[in-house]
Amino acid sequence: MKKSLLASVIDQWSVVPPVETADLSGKTVLVVGANVGIGFEASKHFARMQPARLIIACRNEAKGKVALAEIERETGYNGCELWIVDLANFASVTTFSDKFKREGGDLHILVMNAAIVQLVYQPTADGWESVLQVNHLATSLLSLLLIPQLVAAGEKSSTPSRIVIVSSDLHYWITPAKEVEASTTPLETLSNEEWCIPEHMQSRYNESKLLNVLFVRALTDRLQSITPLSAVAVNPGYCYSQLRRDWYKKPTFSFARIAVALNERLLAWTAEQGSRQLVFAAVGGRDNEDNMKAGYVNLGRLIEVADFVLSDEGRKFQNTVWNETIDILNGVSDKIAPIVQDYLVVPDSSIN
Ligand SMILES: NC(=O)c1ccc[n+]([C@@H]2O[C@H](COP(=O)([O-])OP(=O)(O)OC[C@H]3O[C@@H](n4cnc5c(N)ncnc54)[C@H](OP(=O)(O)O)[C@@H]3O)[C@@H](O)[C@H]2O)c1
Repeated sequence: MKKSLLASVIDQWSVVPPVETADLSGKTVLVVGANVGIGFEASKHFARMQPARLIIACRNEAKGKVALAEIERETGYNGCELWIVDLANFASVTTFSDKFKREGGDLHILVMNAAIVQLVYQPTADGWESVLQVNHLATSLLSLLLIPQLVAAGEKSSTPSRIVIVSSDLHYWITPAKEVEASTTPLETLSNEEWCIPEHMQSRYNESKLLNVLFVRALTDRLQSITPLSAVAVNPGYCYSQLRRDWYKKPTFSFARIAVALNERLLAWTAEQGSRQLVFAAVGGRDNEDNMKAGYVNLGRLIEVADFVLSDEGRKFQNTVWNETIDILNGVSDKIAPIVQDYLVVPDSSIN
């Protein structure tokens, strides 16, 4: 579908449906990027549903401890655990997943919420452009590495497990540049320092949110329908949070800062309102699980994704990005290949 800017503005002025609730007793929920903003608010909602374990994964221990104490204080829930992961560092992600394999047990709900916005090229220690690594590569890496724990949980439960990837309506308004779409290694092209001029970095965050939608759909294409695991993308809506923290470091009367402040004043929901979308993606729509698979949640219901994603070019791009993502992640962890082998199948549509 084509979603106009006006349609998104109308969404922002709509009444946000109340938070979905579910019985999470005996279940494990993992929220990545949970110390502030939408992930923090979603964690509080999950805590109120009393899961057996709620793991909040944060990159900064001190901030994580403050968040954990706040979750306990506000909800009275005492099963919250703080684990450390930095998505800008592949080794941190693989260490995290190794620890999860040893100590995490089965995983029923994974919410991949962490993301950054950055308008200037900054490579990570792994050599990838930061937004691309945090928002897409590491998000995909952790999601794939945790598939065995998610499937194990789904097999023992009456409801399939869920992977929720937090995307954005911005995916409607971006298509890859021609050079990127034509490339056999689009991620490498996108990450290349020469490509990452300020003009191209303007759209980097939007591109990463499109990659999130493509990942959810590509993964769903490769999960057999009997696998008790559903992957869902979600738009939390435009919310007050720390996502645009860099704008608030600009001089008080700069155009960028005033524009963001004005936009937020006119349109933004609270992070709590945004978090309800994540919760719906994680526990909602159980009456029609098949519908939720590869779904895109907006305002507490499923809506169609961008026309580009549904187009032939979009599907071709999706498969190219999937193959490149797996190639890259195979170089990061020797656990990716066996997971792809054991849990995923090659869909007909991947033959370009
Ligand atoms: N806010 C919006 O208007 C909006 C709109 C559409 C979609 N979204 C999406 O909603 C999600 C949540 O964003 P938000 O608005 O709540 O932003 P936020 O307040 O900035 O929260 C982002 C979270 O991700 C964490 N994070 C960032 N980089 C990380 C890394 N390298 N490793 C581990 N964690 C990392 C942050 O930790 P630190 O505090 O340590 O940085 C923070 O906990 C994102 O996926 C975003 O793209 C937001």
